[in-house]
Amino acid sequence: MNSPTITLAPYELESFAHNGFLAIPAITSHEEIDELRVIYDRLFRERIGWEDGNQFDLATDEAGGMATLPQLINPSRYVPQLADTRYVRNAAAIARQILGEDLEQGYRDQMIFKPAVRGSATPWHQDQAYHAPEYRYRTINFWMPLDDTSVASGCMHFVPGSHRLDVLPHRSIGGNPSVHGLELDNPDPYAPYAVACPVPAGGCTLHAAYTLHYTGPNVSQSPRRAYTLVFSATPVRRSQPIDNYWMRAKQTSRMQREQQRRKQS
Ligand code: NI
Repeated sequence: MNSPTITLAPYELESFAHNGFLAIPAITSHEEIDELRVIYDRLFRERIGWEDGNQFDLATDEAGGMATLPQLINPSRYVPQLADTRYVRNAAAIARQILGEDLEQGYRDQMIFKPAVRGSATPWHQDQAYHAPEYRYRTINFWMPLDDTSVASGCMHFVPGSHRLDVLPHRSIGGNPSVHGLELDNPDPYAPYAVACPVPAGGCTLHAAYTLHYTGPNVSQSPRRAYTLVFSATPVRRSQPIDNYWMRAKQTSRMQREQQRRKQS
């Protein structure tokens, strides 16, 4: 019951090591996807985590109007049953296959919602650009949609081999430091090599900390609900920190809510 139901075959491990990403057709069951959809929709409908700064809009400065890319960090903190899913068990087993004995206990989870028709793009970035500049991170990010995805609904795109790059210069989306999300300063040398991964509901992509990735706007008539898990190996301290001036410049209303909440507790 509590053991994983899938692991990666040797050719899949080889492909991940070579490309820095992988798409797999199923990481959990249809029954579990049905259950997760109910939880997912409630968390966004009730704006769970907003006051804590855990729910926010990635793509706008939240000054007004509708969220076009709502996110919820750590949903399992609000719904503990999310920690006991086949998705988590299978992802943990795969992360252990890739990261080996260095795999740290626990994981981070996040829900990224691209509403039908108006969901905005998540521009090209490396997850490492968000992280502490003193470390070299080794992470595996699982991205599982609760809806069948297509290029039109905002499926994942990756640049093969980009996991071997170091952190490239980033900036806040649109150059606006009140926006939470980051984008690559200049995606032009990389974007032409992108591979789209339109996985079905309950399928999954995985990528490494430095892999360049992107999802387009949702111009379809259906929502694109994604649920991500990040597993980490112990990060390695760099001899010289990178200069992540794009993070120092940030001042978002999400951060203000989080600071406010810290003061109260
Ligand atoms: Ni990312």
